[in-house]
Amino acid sequence: MRFLTAGESHGPSLSVIVEGCPAGLSLTEGFINEQLARRQLGAGRGARQRIEQDRAQILSGVRRGETLGSPIAMLVTNRDHANWQETMATGETQGAADRLFTIPRPGHADLAGALKYDRRDCRDILERASARETAARVAAGSVSRRLLEEAGIHIGSSVTGVGGIQSPPGETVSACRGLDPEMPMTDPEAARRVQEAIRAAAADGDTLGGSVCVLAEGIPPGLGSHVHWDRRLDAKLGAHFFSIPSVKAVELGAGVRVSGLRGAEAQDPVHYEVRRGFYRESNWAGGVEGGISNGEVIVVTAYLKPLSTLMKPLDSVDIGTKRAAKAQKERSDVCAVPAAAVIGEAVLALCLAEALLEKVGGDSLGEVLRNLEQYRLQVERF
Ligand SMILES: Cc1cc2nc3c(=O)[nH]c(=O)nc-3n(C[C@H](O)[C@H](O)[C@H](O)COP(=O)(O)O)c2cc1C
Repeated sequence: MRFLTAGESHGPSLSVIVEGCPAGLSLTEGFINEQLARRQLGAGRGARQRIEQDRAQILSGVRRGETLGSPIAMLVTNRDHANWQETMATGETQGAADRLFTIPRPGHADLAGALKYDRRDCRDILERASARETAARVAAGSVSRRLLEEAGIHIGSSVTGVGGIQSPPGETVSACRGLDPEMPMTDPEAARRVQEAIRAAAADGDTLGGSVCVLAEGIPPGLGSHVHWDRRLDAKLGAHFFSIPSVKAVELGAGVRVSGLRGAEAQDPVHYEVRRGFYRESNWAGGVEGGISNGEVIVVTAYLKPLSTLMKPLDSVDIGTKRAAKAQKERSDVCAVPAAAVIGEAVLALCLAEALLEKVGGDSLGEVLRNLEQYRLQVERF
């Protein structure tokens, strides 16, 4: 299963094509829209979320609520485009040229992208670099999520830190589901302090980063492989999570914490019971050993830097005049950490659905589930 997205932040729409989804999977716009709505929630989002009310329109690959095995094309309209028609017109326009965006914002793709693509207007870069693209990824991830649900694999997330205020991760998917979507932290006192910190940062024209923990339960052992670097599940998870804009570090399981421990403390001893099979009592590894899922819960933590667009802008240089100037402003969020948790769920679903299909194969949902059942039996009887 693979996917491609297209679309600029203020263009007419985002589009996404998901290819390789088995036939016979029930999929509705309603299910995808629930996930899109979750991405828009969360303390610290800006005015854009009040303008947009993301809805996916399924254009192909689904008939009467079931996938056909053919490419699934989806469209998410940008409502805000109505305010940007002249600036974002795809054809030549009669109107006067807009003010160019010539003062790149530190921390964004603005300057590196303008140099690379030889563009004199940073808008040619920032429109696609914007995290608006993650709405298309959440739509694609919803298809994977549906498939995983059928396979008994469930995904959840929690926010574990914002602006230095920490909260323990949700320990199970069902515990994560009960959290407040405005600030899905397990510690309500931490969540309250975070809301205050967001208000204070907004008042200072500043922004906050943080961390999210994403879990997947019900994973069979054996996804990914140790045999080659690009088949390792941990490598694939890293690529997926690092592709979320503003993610600067990714941990599997206990992550950096184990680097300071002794070897005897930092592994997960193996146990066996007749009905239960092999199991662990700890999960330092986060569900992956040697690049292969080991059957325990997959636990990924991603760390996000504070958002780069500041209402009190940093020093920059005008790419036209080469004179020092304050970075140009663009409407912006103060904190996007709760949204990143939902995006983290989507990328985990995309990664795991691909790995699952690679392991068991199948052109129809029935075939996938039969193959998975056979494989689970093989593991049980091992
Ligand atoms: C959900 C989400 C929303 C974001 N919104 C903004 C925003 O409003 N303003 C901003 O400056 N950065 C925002 N970002 C982060 C930028 O997209 C990102 O920092 C930028 O594209 C540069 O990429 P990099 O930080 O990965 O290097 C957001 C990120 C996410 C995940």
